[in-house]
Amino acid sequence: MTTFTASDVPPLPGRTVVVTGANSGIGRVTARVLAAKGARVVLAVRDPEKGREAAATMTGHVEVRRLDLADLSSVRAFADDFTDPVDLLINNAGVMIPPLTRTADGFELQFGTNHLGHFALTNLLLPRIRDRVVTVSSNAHKVGTIDFDDLNRERKPYRAMSAYAQSKLANLLFTAELQRRLAAAGSPVIATAAHPGLATTNLLKSDGRRRVRDLAQKAATGLLAQSEDDGALPTLYAAVADVPGDSYAGPSGFLEGRGAPKLVGRSAKARDAGTARRLWAVSEELTGAVFPWPSPQAAQPTP
Ligand SMILES: NC(=O)c1ccc[n+]([C@@H]2O[C@H](COP(=O)([O-])OP(=O)(O)OC[C@H]3O[C@@H](n4cnc5c(N)ncnc54)[C@H](OP(=O)(O)O)[C@@H]3O)[C@@H](O)[C@H]2O)c1
Repeated sequence: MTTFTASDVPPLPGRTVVVTGANSGIGRVTARVLAAKGARVVLAVRDPEKGREAAATMTGHVEVRRLDLADLSSVRAFADDFTDPVDLLINNAGVMIPPLTRTADGFELQFGTNHLGHFALTNLLLPRIRDRVVTVSSNAHKVGTIDFDDLNRERKPYRAMSAYAQSKLANLLFTAELQRRLAAAGSPVIATAAHPGLATTNLLKSDGRRRVRDLAQKAATGLLAQSEDDGALPTLYAAVADVPGDSYAGPSGFLEGRGAPKLVGRSAKARDAGTARRLWAVSEELTGAVFPWPSPQAAQPTP
């Protein structure tokens, strides 16, 4: 366990950070802390008005730009318009257990937003990223499976939690494969991941499923959950701590629900290099966004 708090984030003058979903919850706290430490922080949000409201609660150099991860044309427009170097990309935005919904490109909403949108954004920005890509996963990845026969829930009955868990497992497989590719390409950039435990944010209020929502709220007000400020600490840790590539940070307390951040384990499925490689290839096909550097050796699984 570490004693890491927001005050341990070093000064970040001259650094540029992009935080997706920064108008709310963990992303808003992450953006607020990094801006207060002197970074130029870009709130990448689907609703600029909400972004401006969030920016008004922050001090420092904060900008708002539109990014709808559920629409690849919006992801491409964001990447085309934002031509500056990016030191830190924080893939934080997410949706959890909505009714079956499709993105503008026809993907299941959770897979499309939580994984494919961030996959495309990262690859499009990668030539300009200088330091680190942090992707926010979840404890839910542990019950996730990548269903290559039905990634977008077009054949089998839709189960919202299963689709969420798949998307959060995809976040970790993405991080692992991205790190392998960066290392093989000789890049100094690293990829890390984090999860907030159980944090009282809008995510827990956003689903239409009463039973799950009630249970989550009960947990949130009880002993298992933590504030959104504390929920952002694993993300901040994964963003600035001296950790190796493919590190995964989460809370240190009971069932990783709350507590100071530390490096945590992941499921066996999240460590499967073959699945990570296959998911990467499918994600490139689905989004048309590809890893920018040739790195054939990175595509080989560890024997
Ligand atoms: N809270 C928890 O206990 C918990 C646990 C495990 C993992 N997580 C993960 O933590 C991350 C942050 O969630 P949170 O708890 O802070 O929830 P939150 O308060 O609901 O924040 C989610 C953010 O994602 C944004 N977003 C959703 N769809 C988007 C899209 N298509 N394009 C761009 N932005 C979009 C939301 O924007 P709008 O405000 O416009 O909807 C919001 O800013 C997520 O990846 C989530 O899976 C949270």
